[in-house]
Amino acid sequence: MGTFSRDERIMRRVLGLASKGQGRVSPNPLVGCMIFKDGIKIGEGFHQNFGGPHAEVNAIGSVVNPSDLKGAELYVNLEPCCHFGKTPPCTDLIIQSGIRRVIICNEDPFEKVAGNGIRQLKEAGIEVSLHIRKEEGLDLNRPFFYSQTRKMPFVTVKIAQTADGRVSTGTGASKWITNEQSRADVHRLRSLTDGILTGSGTVKADNPRLTIRTGSSEKQPYRLILDTRLSIPAHSWVLTDEFAEKTLVFHSDDLSGPCGSKSRFIPVPVKGNHLDLEQVLKTCFKLGIHQILAEAGPGLTSNLIREALVNRLVIYQAGNFLGDGPAAFNRHQILSSVSEGNPLKLESVDRFGNDIRLTYLVKE
Ligand SMILES: NC(=O)c1ccc[n+]([C@@H]2O[C@H](COP(=O)([O-])OP(=O)(O)OC[C@H]3O[C@@H](n4cnc5c(N)ncnc54)[C@H](OP(=O)(O)O)[C@@H]3O)[C@@H](O)[C@H]2O)c1
Repeated sequence: MGTFSRDERIMRRVLGLASKGQGRVSPNPLVGCMIFKDGIKIGEGFHQNFGGPHAEVNAIGSVVNPSDLKGAELYVNLEPCCHFGKTPPCTDLIIQSGIRRVIICNEDPFEKVAGNGIRQLKEAGIEVSLHIRKEEGLDLNRPFFYSQTRKMPFVTVKIAQTADGRVSTGTGASKWITNEQSRADVHRLRSLTDGILTGSGTVKADNPRLTIRTGSSEKQPYRLILDTRLSIPAHSWVLTDEFAEKTLVFHSDDLSGPCGSKSRFIPVPVKGNHLDLEQVLKTCFKLGIHQILAEAGPGLTSNLIREALVNRLVIYQAGNFLGDGPAAFNRHQILSSVSEGNPLKLESVDRFGNDIRLTYLVKE
């Protein structure tokens, strides 16, 4: 068992504090901040809402006696910003406060910051320590780092399957393969994303709502429906319920979306028989949808994997059999072979009653 330095121990607490923003800050990163003076914590804060004050502002604001900031140490898991965005630059505030040392976990890949925040602090004579618990910081904000550097959304694919690997019955019914605990966890996953993606096949078969119905999440993610030929019924829940404005229907660019719908219809190019998935995802990124949960059938799930557009796979497996239903993936569409080794890294195994959840990261 390794021993950790004081900086590492404090940074672990900072990362825990940052994670309190889960489900509320995306597409912004999760950020926590603690301030210490003479070894005693005098302030802390985290980024609580998208567009709201940054963690450093909340932490500095929480210090009872502002004169204590002179000579203090500030721990933050992401490089402080140095630009005017939705809020003023944090570097200015830190420099003005008289803080003498800043301890950072990860650099911010966002172009307007990307090392400039650190440079400004150093130029102001502040001591900067970088990469404290770097890997844990990268893990915590994995979707943020991925989407900022690739300009593509981070895609998690969710699959609910039986012990014999089926995702629906032979007649297409998939309600409910997994138990209540697993389904509640899917709602938690939904609450952490910006958009829930599915194909026209699932909308026609299940007429899902794709809303968050458990927990206390304040936000409803976008519903992203891939419907090349505009074939889903007009009375589908995703087009008619109270969140209909949060439904984006992607369709072939040789068709026009219907008039008078509350939902938004977005034309994209077709590749082969279906929509060009890369174009769909790039469009999502531009719309600020940086984290996507795909809850689709074998058709879309297979194509996302085949086109290497998946970052994480979450499989809920129930202790039952369905025998003749389809598998999660269309057998002939997956290209990898045994000789290519394992493209997935097992991140965690969790138990939900008689179900298990397997979480895999797709190796880059
Ligand atoms: N157990 C689970 O986790 C789970 C989750 C969801 C669904 N399901 C089950 O899956 C079954 C439906 O399977 P499915 O494969 O038809 O559903 P799907 O994957 O949700 O939808 C597939 C359809 O999406 C459209 N699409 C548009 N662009 C696409 C692209 N680039 N790649 C792939 N598809 C694209 C295609 O139709 P167009 O091109 O004509 O639009 C395609 O037929 C249902 O029985 C449902 O209950 C199970």
